[in-house]
Amino acid sequence: MGNLLCFWVVAASSLVFCGSWANAKDASASAVGDPGMRRDGLRVAFEAWNFCNEVGEEAPGMGSPRAADCFDISNHSLIHKVSEEDNKLGIGKQFPGLNPKALNNPDLYAAEKEIYLGSLCQVSHAAKPWQFWMVMLKNGNYDTKSGLCPENGKKVPPFNPGRFPCFGSGCMNQPILYHQPTSLDGKDTMKGGFNGTYELDGNSYFEVVWEKKFGSGSWNFAHKLRTSKKYPWLMLYLRADATKGYSGGYHYDTRGMLKTLPVSPNFKVRLTLDIKQGGGPQSQFYLIDIGSCWKNNGAACDGDVLTDVTRYCEMIINPETPAWCSPTNIGNCPPYHITPNNTKIHRNDTANFPYGAYHYYCSPGNALHLEQPNSTCDPYSNPQAQELVQLLPHPIWAEYGYPTKKGEGWIGDKRTWELDVGGLSSRLYFYQVWNLKNFVYIVWGYTNFLLCRIQVPLLLQEYGHLLMWGRKFL
Ligand SMILES: *[C@@H]1O[C@H](CO)[C@@H](O)[C@H](O)[C@H]1NC(C)=O
Ligand SMILES: *[C@@H]1O[C@H](CO)[C@@H](O)[C@H](O)[C@H]1NC(C)=O
Ligand SMILES: *[C@@H]1O[C@H](CO)[C@@H](O)[C@H](O)[C@H]1NC(C)=O
Ligand SMILES: *[C@@H]1O[C@H](CO)[C@@H](O)[C@H](O)[C@H]1NC(C)=O
Ligand SMILES: *[C@@H]1O[C@H](CO)[C@@H](O)[C@H](O)[C@H]1NC(C)=O
Repeated sequence: MGNLLCFWVVAASSLVFCGSWANAKDASASAVGDPGMRRDGLRVAFEAWNFCNEVGEEAPGMGSPRAADCFDISNHSLIHKVSEEDNKLGIGKQFPGLNPKALNNPDLYAAEKEIYLGSLCQVSHAAKPWQFWMVMLKNGNYDTKSGLCPENGKKVPPFNPGRFPCFGSGCMNQPILYHQPTSLDGKDTMKGGFNGTYELDGNSYFEVVWEKKFGSGSWNFAHKLRTSKKYPWLMLYLRADATKGYSGGYHYDTRGMLKTLPVSPNFKVRLTLDIKQGGGPQSQFYLIDIGSCWKNNGAACDGDVLTDVTRYCEMIINPETPAWCSPTNIGNCPPYHITPNNTKIHRNDTANFPYGAYHYYCSPGNALHLEQPNSTCDPYSNPQAQELVQLLPHPIWAEYGYPTKKGEGWIGDKRTWELDVGGLSSRLYFYQVWNLKNFVYIVWGYTNFLLCRIQVPLLLQEYGHLLMWGRKFL
């Protein structure tokens, strides 16, 4: 286990990913800007986050951790819309539209750089403009002595280490990012990518490579992620974010692919998933993860981190992931399960509650009226309080087309799924102080439809795992 390089395998086959959303009523209506990822002129961006979804400090020479690779096609050649100079923009450097307050603040600067890159990439001829797919990389180290992350949105003083991985000062750094701008070779293949590491000696590794035949097929996205001793907790997503507004995990305006926000229960996701390597027993790989933001009174989020609550719903398909929710640990279960015919089964109903279907449920840390026993979510890893509903494959999800058995969709079991994500998410418990006047339908502000995280907060000796995966949305 000590030798990190033993996990270093060259991807022999291409990992495939592309995406589309279908509205339940009209299968041809897609919420994403580029359904099926068939458009030759690709739009893809990169962002890196520290533990509480901010920048903290830029990596030397890298600029602000936001970048993009966007191009149009003209007369059989690629016309790039974002220069490498744009990609290297960092604090102290001006760009059009930059708010002077953000000029020397790495957190504010990154948010504004994303808007700027979005303006360069925006596909505006469409009825509803859209910008880019988002590759998101997160380092889960938290230096508790830095006082950098708020607790459920509240600024708190530094505290003693022990709860989170951190090798010492500098553990929350931003990565070294390499960009291979998309180019067209003599065989009519377009290819580009982002890769890099958190260490100068390069033990941790991330890579996203995209490839497509000019004029046919769809983009293939190949992903690799490897943790290291110093960086045991990494996440890599490929996301479709909202084209504007506050989405889950952010407290500022973002740019993305979702021209129309998916509203439960009427949306579906069709995809083929092919995982090449699993990332070890602690890896949480989400078949799909969706996130949004609304307040505990049902109101839409407005950037006030004290009352905004990020909500996530995700199915973990690593078969080694156990259910922490059980008849003897009902505090790890949502208060009730809702059946497709809208019957509520309370978690203390041991004869009927599907304990094995829930890995873990945790409530927002700012909730005041919780059923006991409760388990509240980590208060530091988002800028605001958060709520998580983590599912596991189980027969009760069959109705929605989700995996029903452990191992389904995992390594060696490439499959095509048609997930009724809207239907399922509308029958999950989310904490809310019911107030019918304020009630908003669940609007999923972003959809992390490809996400993996290797999360090893407790077993620090578990590192060096390599995870490789791909999928195709149909
Ligand atoms: C397009 O490319 C072809 C072949 O390279 C060239 O002959 C033609 O002049 C180009 N057209 C324009 C409008 O640039
Ligand atoms: C990133 O990718 C490039 C191009 O494939 C490669 O030359 C480079 O070695 C990679 N970087 C690392 C840190 O492996
Ligand atoms: C709803 O479904 C449950 C099982 O999922 C079943 O026991 C119950 O009878 C159903 N109720 C109605 C009203 O159909
Ligand atoms: C189960 O929980 C509900 C709601 O808290 C409560 O009303 C009920 O009495 C509980 N039943 C048992 C058997 O504990
Ligand atoms: C949640 O549970 C803890 C531990 O039992 C308790 O101290 C706390 O008051 C509970 N929180 C709420 C909001 O009920």
